Amino acid sequence: MPHPAALAVALIVLMGTATHSGAPMVRSAAASQPLTAQDVTQPVGWDKELTLPPARDLNPDPKILEFNLEARIASIEITPGVTTSVWTYNGMLPGPYLRAKVGDTVIVHFKNALPEETTIHWHGVRVSNDMDGTPGMTQKPVAPGGEFRYQFIVRDAGTYWYHPHTNSAAQVGWGLYGPIVVEDPSDPKAFGDDLVLMLSDMSLDDKARLLPKDNGGEFGDLFGREGSVLLVNGRVRPRLRVRAGKQQRWRFINATRARYYAFAMPGQTFIRLGGDNGLAERSEKVTRASLVPGERLDVVFTPSSAPGTVSVLRWRPVDRGYGTAFARQSEALMEIETVDQPPVTPAIIPGHLRDIPRIDVRKAVQHTLNLTIQKEAKRLEMGINGIPAWKATPLHARIGETHVWTVTNNSPFDHPFHLHGYFFQVLDDQRVAEWKDTVNVPVKSTVRIAITFDERPGMWMYHCHILDHAEVGMMGHLHVQ
Ligand code: C2O
Ligand code: CU
Ligand code: CU
Repeated sequence: MPHPAALAVALIVLMGTATHSGAPMVRSAAASQPLTAQDVTQPVGWDKELTLPPARDLNPDPKILEFNLEARIASIEITPGVTTSVWTYNGMLPGPYLRAKVGDTVIVHFKNALPEETTIHWHGVRVSNDMDGTPGMTQKPVAPGGEFRYQFIVRDAGTYWYHPHTNSAAQVGWGLYGPIVVEDPSDPKAFGDDLVLMLSDMSLDDKARLLPKDNGGEFGDLFGREGSVLLVNGRVRPRLRVRAGKQQRWRFINATRARYYAFAMPGQTFIRLGGDNGLAERSEKVTRASLVPGERLDVVFTPSSAPGTVSVLRWRPVDRGYGTAFARQSEALMEIETVDQPPVTPAIIPGHLRDIPRIDVRKAVQHTLNLTIQKEAKRLEMGINGIPAWKATPLHARIGETHVWTVTNNSPFDHPFHLHGYFFQVLDDQRVAEWKDTVNVPVKSTVRIAITFDERPGMWMYHCHILDHAEVGMMGHLHVQ
């Protein structure tokens, strides 16, 4: 039997506090241990410049998140000292942060106060078909002054986002997008404090006004319009405060209409947890990460810079065809200030994150989808198998069926391929297994994806998430019955 006094000491050590006179010896013993990430909080005001105000929940039921969302034009200061009329949800950029727990119900009272019609698509969320926001297919577009009620259950933990699905290259480019995080309360605390980093860019003229939707003409359609100003959570070059060793979980969302991102910081590694649909099967240590339009990236950032220094997370050009990386400079995205406090020992991130059973493709229905730019068209036109969206007939699938889609890109640009409604697995991929809804198909390559149409019949879209490409036809639909 241990001596009762020894038990008391052990208890005090465990509780990390010393409350009575017998404690000083214990306290000094504890103080000689280096602090770990779990012993400290983030620096004061760590995410102050990146805060995303949450959506105001109108429903007292903790399992129901109910809120008002109005699309309207609002004046926002993007570049210091000048205001820009941007397209917003609730007057904010990005739109309100929707944060729910797995299994919660989300109800959105949507109102369109824009001068044109719109809809909302819940990118990556497995909603029922009538809530998917595809105009003319799952719902009538919401006219100016009109309303629509969206309701769905968030069934999968992960990072998602919402955006319009009419005139989407322009509407998204002008500011209509917002983040959604579905938390899994059983995620390890070791991942650190959550930080959503919604990446976007905007094309502004020299008076900080939005450029028209057709800026750059056909070349803009072909290349995809990358904005002139890079934003993180709607801000130019915000500063984040970190403490060496104290982890943060960064959830990146690429909400741009066309821009690819690559990140790397000298001497810095990240632990990749997953992407589109939350956790991958295993965590991996990476030194470089990339993110295509529509895609998400979930990483643990363990600050490793010296206390009292500032480093910069930069956007780095990605070669997505036609030499787009050539002669382009990297640009600052955000500053990371490592506060002048002693480093703490980082928490251990588990290797295995969850089980992801591989889709059995032995009896799969096969489809071939070639991403194309039609040469014989009079104006610039893109499509799938040479057919633009407005002439396409749907693919068909039966509930319960598994498909393998072979997506080939012989065009001179990369295309981020996105499917609504269902997650897929990328085959022939040596990386860690994970569920995705958006995948890059590089120039002159083929990506095979496996999908099981578990349920939720209806007409679903798939398209290139360079929204300028989708607008000129690189889009198709799928009828699940
Ligand atoms: Cu973000 Cu049709 O998608
Ligand atoms: Cu989508
Ligand atoms: Cu494309």
